[in-house]
Amino acid sequence: MTGDRQALRLTVLAGDGIGPEVTGAALHVLETALQSAGIDLVRSPQLIGGAALDATGDPLPEASLSAACSADAVFLGAVGGPAWNSAPVRPEAGLLRLRSGLGAFANLRPVRVWPGLEKHSPLRPEVLRGADLLFIRELTGGIYFGRPKGVAGEAPNRHSVDTSEYSEMEVRRAAEVAFRAARQRRSKVTSVDKANVLATSQLWRQVVTEVGQEFPDVSLEHCLVDSFALRLLQQPGAFDVVVTENLFGDILTDEAGALTGSLGVLPSASGGGDGPWLYEPVHGSAPDIAGKGIANPLGAIATVALLLRLTVKREELAAAVEEAVAAVIAEGLLTPDLGGSESTESVTEAVIRRLPVGAAA
Ligand code: NAD
Ligand code: IPM
Ligand code: MN
Repeated sequence: MTGDRQALRLTVLAGDGIGPEVTGAALHVLETALQSAGIDLVRSPQLIGGAALDATGDPLPEASLSAACSADAVFLGAVGGPAWNSAPVRPEAGLLRLRSGLGAFANLRPVRVWPGLEKHSPLRPEVLRGADLLFIRELTGGIYFGRPKGVAGEAPNRHSVDTSEYSEMEVRRAAEVAFRAARQRRSKVTSVDKANVLATSQLWRQVVTEVGQEFPDVSLEHCLVDSFALRLLQQPGAFDVVVTENLFGDILTDEAGALTGSLGVLPSASGGGDGPWLYEPVHGSAPDIAGKGIANPLGAIATVALLLRLTVKREELAAAVEEAVAAVIAEGLLTPDLGGSESTESVTEAVIRRLPVGAAA
């Protein structure tokens, strides 16, 4: 935040597929919320993903990374899509470099079931009751960043390799985020690993246990990832904060997305290092619905609430956005992924009308 009149300098990486659609919606909500507090939104749109590949040959051009690193916060829509399936560099590689370049090692993915969406969950209401989780996904280590990687050789003798590596420091700092978050919630951490097979998970379990001893007021349980995937469907209400490595966190949060009715409603925020925080909905570029104007904007809009809470540090603005989202859902104004017939734009406008300042706008 800079200047006489307060301003939020936001690097905007809309990306591919529905990325630009949900980003437009989110920024409209953000601008309205900031206006009510006399804060200007200064946007710096930059290229990432397939759009950046097409324009520059690089999924994260230097200009995008340096703009992101010097912003107050970064907002990302989504990257990737079938158009780049056989590209030598994938759009997704740009996102990984961005996360790493920002030092965004802790990915916060809250999972809640908005009242009114229970009937869209595949779980029965009595199973779903009490589900309110916060995933802390380690985001800049593990198999996503292992070396060497790639496919080599000629058919039928091709081979490929991915490696997973974690240092004690990487596990410790992710665990610390989880325990600190648990203190603000229900004081329970579940650490998810595959310690019966993987060396990285054995280290993960040891280090998380040691960090847990520094937080005696927070209870800690360890759970193997396969049985956690099962328990998440059987008793989602049994968990509070869940901390896990990069790949497991990716998979389990999509699973958790189903519980809430649609992946399209899940928000996320990533940070922890020296760089600005990165805000992105959990979902991808959804090529199957891109360009139709029907993408659910609520994950991106709920991500705006996280930005207002964590970067702008205005809890009342964050709460106002979440209340507006809750009201829109309660009134049944839903996009097709939730069985409705609203558009991205009409849902966004409905959210804005329910913001204290939006009603007057
Ligand atoms: P996806 O998340 O894009 O879509 C999965 C399903 O959820 C699809 O049926 C889609 O229509 C639906 N969906 C997702 N977001 C929605 C929304 N906001 N509203 C309504 N429905 C929504 O996953 P995918 O199809 O496996 O991946 C497509 C591309 O997106 C891939 O290239 C993948 O790498 C990329 N991806 C990017 C990110 C990111 O940029 N953060 C995240 C996940 C996937
Ligand atoms: C996510 C996505 C990304 C990930 C991809 C696009 C690199 O699935 O943000 O969940 O795996 O982290
Ligand atoms: Mn994912």
